[in-house]
Amino acid sequence: MDSSELSSSSLQTKAQEQSAKIKNVGVIGAGTMGHGIAQVFAQAGFNVKLNDVSSDFISGGIRRIESNLSRSVEKGKMTQDEKNGVLSRIIAAPSLEDFKDREFVVEAVLEKIEIKRDVFKKLDKICGNGVILASNTSSIPITELAALVSNSERVAGMHFFNPVPVMKLVEIVKALQSSELTIEVIRALAVKMGKTPVVVKDTAGFVSNRVVCPMINEAIFVYEQGIASKEDIDTVMKLGMNHPMGSLELADFVGLDIVLDVLDVLYKEYEDPKYRASPLLRNMVRAGYLGRKTKKGFYDYP
Ligand code: 3HC
Repeated sequence: MDSSELSSSSLQTKAQEQSAKIKNVGVIGAGTMGHGIAQVFAQAGFNVKLNDVSSDFISGGIRRIESNLSRSVEKGKMTQDEKNGVLSRIIAAPSLEDFKDREFVVEAVLEKIEIKRDVFKKLDKICGNGVILASNTSSIPITELAALVSNSERVAGMHFFNPVPVMKLVEIVKALQSSELTIEVIRALAVKMGKTPVVVKDTAGFVSNRVVCPMINEAIFVYEQGIASKEDIDTVMKLGMNHPMGSLELADFVGLDIVLDVLDVLYKEYEDPKYRASPLLRNMVRAGYLGRKTKKGFYDYP
């Protein structure tokens, strides 16, 4: 075994040891992504504290978890006892101060840089400085968030996909400051959650959104130019490419505001016109037609 293999195997050992000690995790944000992340952690046996800006949001997230689990029970994929066990491992944490005892934290709050900055600054004061702080952001630079906390090497991206309980991928985003140990601990946790992790560098859009958002944007341009109906564009992608959803359907599913945010970040960062957002997408966001979450996007969701 050469020295690089030796150091890599000792890194793996350290990461396994450190990840095995993590039992108590915190999830900030109980929305579409946060509630799913909390559910998957709890299903993997972790004790989860779930935080959001109001108790109503937290109970809304817990209700969504309960309904996901009930569906699994109805389908015979989980017993009632297992469901109760998962729910018993999730508790509401109305204040971030409740995260003092957390051994790992993942943030999934709104995609607004000011809000994320505030959360990371608060976590820096509340959590011990060895606690890994991960962000589920789809577009905000992890390097910028890491710069806000002491011991920046413990910060990295842990990017899940919607719906979190179903989608296998976790994109682990390595900030300029992230240590190899941080990355390997997150990788071990993702595997424990039944996910398949990939590690990517902290660049705008990472891999996933750099590829998928321009694809969605192009589908919107095609629609805007009247080349085909929205249904036919989606049929092309479903039947011709075997995608589970058409690109316009996917835009509604992800949220048009999120797609636009990502495209704007890509455009600003790479200064390449190929990332310019379609005017129709921008106007739909202005109109508040954000997709499923507002019951109106390219399709209606009555
Ligand atoms: N929460 C939990 N489970 C869900 C769910 C949800 N919101 N929606 C569907 N499921 C489960 C169902 O219960 C079912 O489970 P089962 O196999 O155990 O019975 C399974 O998923 C399949 O669901 P359905 O049969 O109802 O419907 P579909 O077969 O049409 O699948 C889908 C639904 C999984 C959402 C599928 O259409 C799909 O994979 N779509 C693409 C999703 C995608 O691309 N996501 C990534 C978006 S990009 C992103 O998140 C990154 C961000 O940064 C922007």
